[in-house]
Amino acid sequence: MSFDGMASVFERHRQVPERVAAAIRGAVLSRIPENCSRRLLDVGAGTGRIGRAFINEGDEYIGVDASMPMLREFVSGCGSLVQADAELLPFRNGTFGAVMLIQVLSGTGGWLGILREARRALAAGGPLFIGQQKTPQDGIDAKMKQCLDTILHEMGISTGANVQNRAHALEWLHRASDKSEQLIVAKWTAIRSARGFLERHVTGARFAAVPPAARAAALDRLSVWAQGHYGSLDRSFSEEHVFELHAFTF
Ligand SMILES: C[S@@+](CC[C@H](N)C(=O)[O-])C[C@H]1O[C@@H](n2cnc3c(N)ncnc32)[C@H](O)[C@@H]1O
Repeated sequence: MSFDGMASVFERHRQVPERVAAAIRGAVLSRIPENCSRRLLDVGAGTGRIGRAFINEGDEYIGVDASMPMLREFVSGCGSLVQADAELLPFRNGTFGAVMLIQVLSGTGGWLGILREARRALAAGGPLFIGQQKTPQDGIDAKMKQCLDTILHEMGISTGANVQNRAHALEWLHRASDKSEQLIVAKWTAIRSARGFLERHVTGARFAAVPPAARAAALDRLSVWAQGHYGSLDRSFSEEHVFELHAFTF
């Protein structure tokens, strides 16, 4: 799934309150053991939505991403950014005191290669963090996403995005790690509407490989469903969102 085409709108469409990045930073730094390097690796760093908080505080932060357009949006200041595939990281074994994978795993079938590389780059005892924004299962975003997946499936379109990827990755990590911890680092109320979902998905990474005509047809069908289901595309709902981190040590 390529993020190249949505780099310029990524942070507007995937907005989280500012305190989320600070809370992730606090959780990550506080879990690096004393005897580990303070050097941090952010795999799939994207536009710096989370990484910027580390850089602004002068942390020893390195961000890696496969997408050059995403990295170009990442105004890095003094941080180091590297374009590389997460399945082939250009770092020696044990270089980092902590590695983060924030909102990366569900969009890729290559999760096992990514986890193996992240683990290889980690110093002994250093934590690996998996992070994700979670929305209520019966909320409008989750319902719209489910409906879109069904429509795409019916149209015979595969996007590579699959919530199962993340579930499989977490399962693997629970088996491979010595210790794990699940944390809710932030909670907030988000206002959502069907129209907001549709607008975000016009340029969504989920559609990167889908021909424009098929993308428009899928969104039209979703729009008709949402109009019937919610009465209006503009009806707004407030939802409780949380940002969840899993920390694993090996
Ligand atoms: C949803 S964005 C998340 C960006 C950032 N972590 C955040 O939370 O704001 C996922 C990012 O992971 C990157 N990515 C996905 N698979 C990758 C891979 N195999 N190697 C490097 N980057 C990858 C994408 O290019 C994209 O920038």
